[in-house]
Amino acid sequence: MARIFITRRLPEEGLRMLEGHDIEIYEGDAPPSKEEIIEGVRNKDALICLLTDKIDSEVMDASPKLKIIANYAVGYDNIDIREATKRGIVVTNTPGVLTETVADLAWALIMSIARRIVEGDEFMREGKFKGWAPMLMLGGDIYGKTLGIIGAGRIGRAVAKRARGFDMKILYYSRKRNEEMESYGGKFVDMETLLKKADFVTLHVPLTEETYHMIGERELKMMKKTAYLINTARGKCVDEDALYRALANREIAGAALDVFENEPSVHEGLLRLKNVVLTPHIGSASYETRSRMAVMVVEDVLAVLNGQKPKNCVNPEVYGDIS
Ligand code: NAP
Ligand code: GLV
Ligand code: GLV
Repeated sequence: MARIFITRRLPEEGLRMLEGHDIEIYEGDAPPSKEEIIEGVRNKDALICLLTDKIDSEVMDASPKLKIIANYAVGYDNIDIREATKRGIVVTNTPGVLTETVADLAWALIMSIARRIVEGDEFMREGKFKGWAPMLMLGGDIYGKTLGIIGAGRIGRAVAKRARGFDMKILYYSRKRNEEMESYGGKFVDMETLLKKADFVTLHVPLTEETYHMIGERELKMMKKTAYLINTARGKCVDEDALYRALANREIAGAALDVFENEPSVHEGLLRLKNVVLTPHIGSASYETRSRMAVMVVEDVLAVLNGQKPKNCVNPEVYGDIS
């Protein structure tokens, strides 16, 4: 019987699979504090955590028995991977099962910001609708426009696939060319070309030292005045202050954001602007996907506890693999 700490209650489909093990679940609905995480991890064999939990050396020190840190997310920038690897702790994530769901949300944001869905809804509820009018709530077209995708990974490609139905031109920037992206008509360009030509710029990179603030004042100034920025990747990939200024000064047309630089806080200025759509980090939040993620995270924990390799290891170096 292994001892497992889970930093929040996950869908039953996953928890059920842990029957027979000694599980402790943090039952709050806001993230546990650092102290609560450390307390929970004490003497545990496995930790299942969320992207809101910062897992560093102090947390790892709380249990010398810790074999696996399983992140209930695909992004794992919340975990100090080097520290985990140094200690021989396996780190896993949930890639693939959430790809299409996040791509759907990116598209929901593209459509919401361009066609002013949220503003329109508010307008209706405030009783301001006086009838169809030629100049009422005009927005930008989507079909036939140019979509700029930054990061040709799983989600970036799923976003591209959907763009074909809208007859869009697709430009993409990534560290290397991607065949699947090109099969959807994606044209590989440098970042500057993408920013200058795209009508919609959408981010799908992980948060790393290289991607921190990859969209800042300089990049926003390269974008068209009529262009929109969509971020479902990580808030810290965008300099939120610079974004606020660009939006307030109408240097770009709008932004739709699912992720924020200092979650759960949101830049005060962004909250006041009309040309912004905000969602509370719900990219993977469908019933089906959250269940699949729970099963995936638990399968990997069980594998490691049984001495097997997990399916989704992000630090294969712990097994002496070079790749
Ligand atoms: P992925 O398959 O690993 O794709 C990310 C891609 O980014 C990689 O394929 C990589 O392609 C590219 N990349 C990495 N560093 C880069 C750099 N410095 N410059 C340009 N491109 C770079 O990951 P994914 O499953 O698509 O997920 C992407 C990210 O979305 C996650 O890391 C997570 O942060 C975020 N996410 C958010 C939500 C949400 O709820 N909003 C949900 C899921 C995921 P190259 O090797 O070609 O550079
Ligand atoms: C969500 O943001 C994830 O990385 O899965
Ligand atoms: C609008 O509803 C139209 O018929 O053009």
